[in-house]
Amino acid sequence: MHDDVEKVLIDEEVIERRLDVLSERILEEFSGRKFVVVVILKGALVFTADLLRRMPIPLEIECINVASYHGTTESSGQVDFLDAKLPAVEGRSVLLVDDILDTGRTLAAVGEKLRGQGAEVVKSCVLLSKDKERDAEVEADHVGFYIGDEFVVGYGLDFRGLYRNLPFIGVLKQGVIEDSR
Ligand code: IMP
Ligand code: MG
Repeated sequence: MHDDVEKVLIDEEVIERRLDVLSERILEEFSGRKFVVVVILKGALVFTADLLRRMPIPLEIECINVASYHGTTESSGQVDFLDAKLPAVEGRSVLLVDDILDTGRTLAAVGEKLRGQGAEVVKSCVLLSKDKERDAEVEADHVGFYIGDEFVVGYGLDFRGLYRNLPFIGVLKQGVIEDSR
């Protein structure tokens, strides 16, 4: 699997140190108020698990399953909600967690959905934010790292369902992407 990686963009140790800071800031943001964490699956799974283990407070975890990439390296522009039932967030404060902010459509669509379900406050946190113009007007309240406009994998992020279990964030060799076409 590591042979498919062209370069490591952010290594494990750097991610770990950043999570220490991020978790502190999020706790400050909610300043003692209870909140529910809504994880956008599957990409935010690894990141959220590590982030929440740094938060020694009573909190609940809910998951929401959406898809927008459909096995390519470009967003399809459409956000599909894959769950029959959405988390119950009425009157609650929510921390919405995603792996990466790209076109912005996912975070915008999920945020809107949760507000529509009656969430009182929706704050967001992403591991990565791509430096590009967004299709949806949205920015995250908390960002792990800002990166260039390139396709990355690892630490939860996939290409065609693979590479989520890489412990770092990296860029795939061009050949790997082309071979799978
Ligand atoms: P957005 O809706 O375009 O902001 O895209 C968000 C979703 O697209 C993320 O939750 C990821 O699942 C996926 N995505 C965007 N960029 C990348 C990438 O570079 N690698 C892997 N998945 C990505
Ligand atoms: Mg995703």
